[in-house]
Amino acid sequence: MTKLQIQIDYKNVTSAVIGVNDGITPKQLKSLEKKINPLISQINRQRKDGKTPFRDLPYNKRISMRVNAVAKTLRSKCDYLVVLGIGGSALGNIALDTALRPFLPNPGDKQSKRPQLFVLDNVDPVQFGSFLDYIKPVLKRTVFNVISKSGRTSETAAQFMIVREMLIEALGKAGYRRRVVATTDANSGTLRTIADSDNLQTLEVPDGVGGRFSVLSAVGLFSAAMCGINIRQLLAGAMDMDKRVSCKDFRKNPAAIDAAINYHYYTHGKPISIMMPYSFALKDMADWYRQLWAESLGKNRDLTGNEIEIGPTPVKALGTTDQHSQVQLYREGPNDKLFTFLQVNNFSEDVEIGPEPDCAPELGFLAGKKMSTLLNSEKLATEYALLESKRPCLTVLFDKVNAYTVGQFIYLFEVTTSFAGALFNINPYDQPAVELGKEATFALMGKEGYENLRKEIRSKTGIDNKYLV
Ligand code: PA5
Repeated sequence: MTKLQIQIDYKNVTSAVIGVNDGITPKQLKSLEKKINPLISQINRQRKDGKTPFRDLPYNKRISMRVNAVAKTLRSKCDYLVVLGIGGSALGNIALDTALRPFLPNPGDKQSKRPQLFVLDNVDPVQFGSFLDYIKPVLKRTVFNVISKSGRTSETAAQFMIVREMLIEALGKAGYRRRVVATTDANSGTLRTIADSDNLQTLEVPDGVGGRFSVLSAVGLFSAAMCGINIRQLLAGAMDMDKRVSCKDFRKNPAAIDAAINYHYYTHGKPISIMMPYSFALKDMADWYRQLWAESLGKNRDLTGNEIEIGPTPVKALGTTDQHSQVQLYREGPNDKLFTFLQVNNFSEDVEIGPEPDCAPELGFLAGKKMSTLLNSEKLATEYALLESKRPCLTVLFDKVNAYTVGQFIYLFEVTTSFAGALFNINPYDQPAVELGKEATFALMGKEGYENLRKEIRSKTGIDNKYLV
């Protein structure tokens, strides 16, 4: 069994890992501990009272059995799996695919025989049009998974309306029905109405689980199961992490510590939180985290209704690529960031660097070394350079990237978000600001009942010819 560790030197925080000169002092740590201790009990109680249903997802056998049953009927008929969804109905699927499948298909590899996954989480006409041209000739070998919890998101609805018509035209109503799985609320919403009326196979987004907390439900599990990802291991990793993040002892609870560190730095002039994986496999995990953190913690009211406008700004970066793009700013620009590195100890594959060319003996230091050694040395080098500039850093360490550790990571950050929400005294489970944008789109696209909003938007936006250059 592989373990995910958070490498936080909290016993001696002014030394190595948190920051050489700008760490959390033992006194500050004590006061954080005092603040978070009652929150650990509160969060464990909320979970027991069923107020955070995402916490129970890894244990829900009904979901994984249903996912496996539907995947089994479709797998042999599918070379291409297309997810239509956006936000929490897409980012987890992308992150799992990048983390747990080979970068490029390899005919000798079992997982490469699984369908190629497309997650279309936008309504760009050029991208979507090009995708339609690609997929039309192979519709008989394609399965579409349309995902929308609310069932009323314009982007997903529009994509689905296009695909539905294309499938009915090409394969008839029965063919369409065979090629679509709808993942949505069990009882309500427009997608549920269509799925019932068209007699589609359906999977459920469980009640009370918001999109960004739903990757361990059918939302993320179905595409994973279709693509040969071991969802049993994924859920086992999450269950393992559940034990650790339920621990009442702050210093043994990685979610509580991670949230406390983030909170500490946010309240000490570091409102930006950078997640920087040193692993291509984990790059889209940073994207998933970015949504989780931003939508959950960016709020303008606290729990008692006071206006606050609070929330760390999550930024994703990728090592080493972004060393050559961002690190200049990170070291010498404003000291307003906390860095979370994702590091991998054992890569599933390694590559040896070739011998130095005779004409370039100065490259001898690289010759014969493993690429993993170079990557992890670059991570350490960047961390060292940041610490030298008094930038605080912490590291989440993956022994290996596999379904088990990824399950641990997902659960860890979901619960860290709960703790951070409690520390900021906000509700991390709603997203009222996203809703207004959805309604404004309805208005602009001519939906009945939104006429006044449309007029208001037009009066406040648009380009004034006076200022057009
Ligand atoms: O986390 C969330 O709740 C959002 O990002 C939603 O997932 C996103 O807006 C898509 O919503 P829906 O699944 O209802 O189409």
